[in-house]
Amino acid sequence: MLLCPSMMCADFGALREETQALDAAGVDIFHCDIMDGTFVPNITMGLMDVRAIRAATNKPIDCHLMVENPSQKIDLVADAGADIIYIHPESERYMVKTLAAIRDKGLKAGLVINPDTSVHTIQEMLNFADYVMVMTVNPGFAGQQFIEFTTEKIKTLASLKERYGFVLTIDGACSPERIERLHALGADGFVLGTSALFGHGPYTEALAKLRAL
Ligand code: DX5
Ligand code: ZN
Repeated sequence: MLLCPSMMCADFGALREETQALDAAGVDIFHCDIMDGTFVPNITMGLMDVRAIRAATNKPIDCHLMVENPSQKIDLVADAGADIIYIHPESERYMVKTLAAIRDKGLKAGLVINPDTSVHTIQEMLNFADYVMVMTVNPGFAGQQFIEFTTEKIKTLASLKERYGFVLTIDGACSPERIERLHALGADGFVLGTSALFGHGPYTEALAKLRAL
């Protein structure tokens, strides 16, 4: 099970210390939500924040691009230190070309879909993605309610994992109970925000609880 702290939920007054503490607590991938205020109605982390996290850990960083025209931002995000870049088909006209461009830079390509987006619309892209992420909340903010109808999409994508060879991850309202339930359905990784990690006591204890699920 991949446990991926949502760094937009971290204390930005102590980003280095937060990153080091999460690294020591045993997280797997640092999840960085980059938002432009247009594709989603919020503006969060930037390239300097990614660079700061990169300087504080050797563990993988994924950047979730909630921006218009992500193909134009790939080089910037890669240079800032991303190992995985997630892009939305809702924001990019040429998805296969962009996923291939991410791989051409030696990074892992991530495909992330909004709650409203059907699996059928991304089937042709699945061969070009190393990670497929299902948004279980509308992107943009932490602390939202889980959207139950996304569970069916998770089941469908779990049944396609072997055939297309991707890792299935979940982003949004991942509580310990939901992590246990969705992991049993075939989800491999989870973005941890306010539902399971931040504000849930010491990181080592919160993570140990999740590892025990
Ligand atoms: C939402 C973000 C995540 C996540 C936060 O756009 O991608 O940061 O939802 O985690 P929760 O939902 O648990 O606060
Ligand atoms: Zn995210």
